[in-house]
Amino acid sequence: MLVKWLEIIDRAFGNWCLTRCHNISDLRWFAKLRVPLPMFHYLDGASDDEVTMDRNEKDFGRYDFLPRYLIDVSSIDTSTTVMGSTIDFPIVCAPTGMSRLFHNDGELAVSKAAAAAGTIYSLSTVSTYSIEEVAEVCAGPKWFQLYVFRDRNLVSELLRRSREAGYTGLVLTVDVPVAGNRERDLRTGMAMPPKLTIASWLSFLLRPLWSLKYLLSDVFQLANVKHKAPVGEQGATSLVEYLNKQFDMTVDWSTAEAIGKEWDGPFAIKGVCSVEDAVKAADIGASAVILSNHGGRQLDFAASPISILPDVAEAVGSRLEIILDGGVRRGTDVIKALALGATACMIGRPYLFGLGVSGETGVAKALTILRTEVERCMGLLGCCSIKEISKEFLNERR
Ligand SMILES: Cc1cc2nc3c(=O)[nH]c(=O)nc-3n(C[C@H](O)[C@H](O)[C@H](O)COP(=O)(O)O)c2cc1C
Repeated sequence: MLVKWLEIIDRAFGNWCLTRCHNISDLRWFAKLRVPLPMFHYLDGASDDEVTMDRNEKDFGRYDFLPRYLIDVSSIDTSTTVMGSTIDFPIVCAPTGMSRLFHNDGELAVSKAAAAAGTIYSLSTVSTYSIEEVAEVCAGPKWFQLYVFRDRNLVSELLRRSREAGYTGLVLTVDVPVAGNRERDLRTGMAMPPKLTIASWLSFLLRPLWSLKYLLSDVFQLANVKHKAPVGEQGATSLVEYLNKQFDMTVDWSTAEAIGKEWDGPFAIKGVCSVEDAVKAADIGASAVILSNHGGRQLDFAASPISILPDVAEAVGSRLEIILDGGVRRGTDVIKALALGATACMIGRPYLFGLGVSGETGVAKALTILRTEVERCMGLLGCCSIKEISKEFLNERR
């Protein structure tokens, strides 16, 4: 009963917050208000000095538009096709682990909102709802994101379960050979095991709706791998410790090729950050490269995806699809990426901010904001369809 009331109050407050959100930056502001600070900083933060995260966003500013007018833009089609799935607008939800940290409905909320918006949801290996639970509620196209573990039986099991549950694409993340250094998490105590500071505890007290809901719900787990943890150690903390030992530092291109063959369907390499690796991805038969530096959460000073996109497009644009991932906060960013050769963009934090503000409705709001901005930008540029977007519409600042 108490949980029900809490949910009603929480939803009403979340939805009120959403009425105040007109862009992704507003969603971020309200997410900080609603989500306890250790979780918010885990979401918002990046590695070392966070230079890469900052540049991921700012480097879009290197390009200005060259719009064309006196064109009939009364009908604009934002749909496109990525790795075999047709989507209503060129934005895909990136895989993000442990989404229940931000809202109790976690990956279920995000996947439902993505399907309702007409786009793809990518489920992380380290999700808090399982491959099957997400498949059950998500009617839209789904991809599964894989981290390669030492336990190759577990890898094969995850691939089989995803295929059987109807996931159509595989995303192989390659930019976590070792864990990035996230100093905000060290400061808030959001480490494994958690060592929360007094300020962190205070922020839970100041967000009673989040905290009470969390305390009154089931303990969350890393749903896809929980059966592999040592008996009696299936809480999130022990599971993360178990997983940290499972990350395989020996993974190389032959492993990636073998996994692509085992999957036997469309697969993307996520975390490509150089022309050389994009060429290797094409050579092993990947369907797409996801230009990404993990949202700046791994190697600080890794190049921003938008800065390397023109060279990657020139080198491999005719051999595979290119998805840009990182720093997208506006529809204009998406159009710039498409103009430089990307098929679509991925977003991580933007939808997580929405999730933190108001669950599924918040994710829907994030997607609607970006979709509306994409459509408006196309109208203002004089483009009626995605295939009309080209680099002729961009001017690089010198
Ligand atoms: C909280 C959080 C968790 C993430 N978890 C994963 C993950 O489990 N697997 C993965 O491949 N990438 C993960 N990422 C990276 C995202 O997939 C994506 O690359 C990044 O968020 C893109 O940058 P953006 O947040 O600026 O859009 C995570 C990102 C965040 C913010």
